[in-house]
Amino acid sequence: MKKIITLFLLTAGMYACNNGSTDAKTEPKAEEKTEAKPEVKETTKADPTDSPEFQKGLELVKNSDCNTCHKVDEKVIGPPFRDVANKYPNNDATIDSLAHKIINGGSGHWGSIAMAAHKDLSVDDAKAIAKYVLLLKNN
Ligand code: HEC
Repeated sequence: MKKIITLFLLTAGMYACNNGSTDAKTEPKAEEKTEAKPEVKETTKADPTDSPEFQKGLELVKNSDCNTCHKVDEKVIGPPFRDVANKYPNNDATIDSLAHKIINGGSGHWGSIAMAAHKDLSVDDAKAIAKYVLLLKNN
């Protein structure tokens, strides 16, 4: 008799679980659907990692020595790129000034440690990097 009850409970349990998991599967889908619209709008604004500008800057950073001193979210020797992005408005004046800093190096904006100069970078490439950095802004 005990066995039958256990078996019954097991089956009932499995049925309940099964039921639960189908519910769980359908619910997030419904959420995804309702959230899809605002998300798309936000992605074009807040997640520009697909943009050609972002990709170009990222590529230039990878090909240079920037990663020795910079990470996106962690301070190494230089400030995290995301902090740089959050510190300045994303406009032409900032792009110019960051490009200048990337080429000529210098200190004073984040502390007394100086950024290395990158005289081999063209102004266009330095500006492309500045645009990439500014796209990391999260507010
Ligand atoms: C030797 C280490 C080092 C390397 C290599 C380096 N940086 Fe920096 N970077 C720094 C330091 C230190 C600062 C902070 C300078 C300051 O306080 O003004 C900085 C600051 C910056 C800033 C913010 C400038 C500002 O005025 O706020 C940007 C943007 C930047 N670096 C980009 C780059 C890029 C792009 C590269 C690669 C081409 C690079 N860095 C390579 C150390 C480095």
